[in-house]
Amino acid sequence: MDATAAPLLTLDWTRFQPRRVQAVRHRLHRHPLLQLDELLALARRLEAAGQLRRIGADAEAGTPFIATAADVGALQRIGAEKGWAVLRYVQIDPTYRGLVDTVLDSIQSHVERVDPGMHYRAGFIFISARHTVTPFHMDVENNFILQMRGHKTLYVWEPDDAVAVSEEARDRFHHHRDLIRWREELRDRAHVFELHAGEGAYMPATSPHMVETGDDLSVTMSFTYLTDATRHDAWLHDLHYLMRRAGLHPSSVGRHPALDALGWRAVAALLGVRRIAQRAAGRPVEPTHPPYAAPGPNEGGRA
Ligand SMILES: [Fe+2]
Repeated sequence: MDATAAPLLTLDWTRFQPRRVQAVRHRLHRHPLLQLDELLALARRLEAAGQLRRIGADAEAGTPFIATAADVGALQRIGAEKGWAVLRYVQIDPTYRGLVDTVLDSIQSHVERVDPGMHYRAGFIFISARHTVTPFHMDVENNFILQMRGHKTLYVWEPDDAVAVSEEARDRFHHHRDLIRWREELRDRAHVFELHAGEGAYMPATSPHMVETGDDLSVTMSFTYLTDATRHDAWLHDLHYLMRRAGLHPSSVGRHPALDALGWRAVAALLGVRRIAQRAAGRPVEPTHPPYAAPGPNEGGRA
């Protein structure tokens, strides 16, 4: 796409807050790599890499989020059947890594003015039948979710909405997701986005969300990343999870910045010791800020 033309992603950057949900617009829905024939070709490559997954036709808002391995045949039947498929970690494909970088490069300076340290970039593409539900869940990454085709109703709750997901559930999130529970009355407190091609939303890390598709085949792409702050918050929740297991009652992450800073210094010191021990043992030491997400096992929850 022409870098001198209008921005790929448009939002009011003067209002952008990394921990607040916000509407966005975009012009990626006409991009050749996001048309169905190119996506089927990508799906064949990702199937071989084990990164093509699907969720069943009978999923509802409260269904546990479990995506299972899919094949391109199943993807081609979407439209005739219900359910959806996700092309995960598309940045492992060199062509689509270029697309992920083009989009995230175009917004990086805006994001990093208030949320420095963009890393762990990834892209996920969702191809969904009509009248399909993505169950209530949350993810670890900041997410620009952009509608390319069809219509979706996206329900998003703020990342600090303790009614939607309790602080204890957030502390347990990296270990257990049993306390993340759907209740029908949560709809009333959600941001509701009626997304058509060219529209989207910014969802901060750990914003609970749930999606329902409209009357047509839907294609959506998420551009995701971590920052220094998302990494700190994740470790603080982990620390609080351990404190709860020890019978303590930690305050909410973000409520007391001075306490959070103390907690983070303790975590950083432990991580430093671990890295020194790994080096001393001759074991590989992972970078703290890898530029791209590493595909993992079926962790689910990405939509
Ligand atoms: Fe998600």
